[in-house]
Amino acid sequence: MTNFSTIYKLSLVTVICFIKACSSSCPVLECWFVQEKAGRGGGLTAATSQEKSLLHIRTGAHSHSADFNQAPSDINPDRVYFITDPAATLCQRSLNPPRGSVQKPQCEINPFLPQPSTLKWVAPLTDSALSPTYLQADWFSTALQGLNEELAISTIMRAPTATKEHNVILSVTSKTVSVQSRLREPVLLDCSFWVDPSSPLSGSGFAVEWRYQFRGDGRLVLAYDGKTDRLADTQEEGATLDFEGLHKKGNASLILQEAKVHHSGMYICTVYLPYIVAQVAVELEIVEPPSLSIHPSPLPLIVPGQTLTVECEASGFAPLSLELSWELKGADGKSSPLGSGSVTGHRQAWDGTYSQSSRLELDPAKLDLGRGGEITCVAVHLGGTRRASVTLNAIGFSTPSIEDSMAMVGVALVLYGLIKFVSWTCTGSGSDGAGQQDKKDK
Ligand SMILES: *[C@@H]1O[C@H](CO)[C@@H](O)[C@H](O)[C@H]1NC(C)=O
Repeated sequence: MTNFSTIYKLSLVTVICFIKACSSSCPVLECWFVQEKAGRGGGLTAATSQEKSLLHIRTGAHSHSADFNQAPSDINPDRVYFITDPAATLCQRSLNPPRGSVQKPQCEINPFLPQPSTLKWVAPLTDSALSPTYLQADWFSTALQGLNEELAISTIMRAPTATKEHNVILSVTSKTVSVQSRLREPVLLDCSFWVDPSSPLSGSGFAVEWRYQFRGDGRLVLAYDGKTDRLADTQEEGATLDFEGLHKKGNASLILQEAKVHHSGMYICTVYLPYIVAQVAVELEIVEPPSLSIHPSPLPLIVPGQTLTVECEASGFAPLSLELSWELKGADGKSSPLGSGSVTGHRQAWDGTYSQSSRLELDPAKLDLGRGGEITCVAVHLGGTRRASVTLNAIGFSTPSIEDSMAMVGVALVLYGLIKFVSWTCTGSGSDGAGQQDKKDK
């Protein structure tokens, strides 16, 4: 009994320690401090400077982050910041790698200038002017990416001028930075935001915007003014938000009712508060494996001296990249590759999916088809490998067995006899007739 309770207590202690270690693991983030170089206006590429910097994250002004006193020598002390993040958004595990790990989360910090926006769905937020003293402070924006490449966080932070003690005012998070979906399925692109409730910027409304970007092509997918509860007119069909979750919990996730091929691309979730803005990007890829069909099916019997062409059509797949090949499984169960055949160019269907086919010529003179077997078309695609098979019936190609040879000799002998007999009867009667004809002529 005592043993049991000791074990129980020990495990309880372990669990508590574990929970504590997890919950209080606000990281010290190594960041690149990037800013435009002063006094070098103009030019196509703005000159920027990069400096290493360190962000000590804590959830309250009086709590301290893990290794508080440890400032590496290669970091300018002016670039060491203390950041209070009450929502603990920056204290997630994938931003806090184990000590000594080579992989580090990506982090960039930039100076930020609060300003009103003229966008139609954002402008109402700054209708009532705000106390300028609150805006006159040191503002920074940060962009972070977690180790697992699934998490992206952007924050806007404010520090009373020259204090280096920043508070997170707005954070925008996505937990699914890259999303894959099958065709015709509903898609959720995760995005959520948090606003410091003690900030004068909270409670004056917000706006959410989703923008699509693919190879230089961009369009507005959805824009929502949370202050006046109004959606902007957009061309996008079947894109919506969970408005209740948005107002209650800051759930700004984009819902696409039905995935289509042209939905593949980059989506940018932008959250606006009066004067400040933060955004994260989510990549969506629509991946649909091909369906295969083989023609002709069933295959005709393959005859010596003739070639047979088989075609395999892969259709309805996306993205474009596909590898087609053929296999022959003999009667003995052994598979052998038959190459890729001659692959045609691809075609695109109305729904954006692709199709492509391969023709294979079966020449019994060149291939050892044996007594036949199974011909399989194999399609390797990002969405998975697909196979289709048909039965191949070939006769008379295998080296004849002794019984077959004996039978063939027998058949040959019978045939020979038959031919001899027929030709003898024909020539016999023919010469008789000719004789009679001769006599009549005389
Ligand atoms: C956000 O809303 C979507 C749609 O209702 C839901 O599926 C998702 O679970 C929500 N996310 C969070 C974190 O609540």
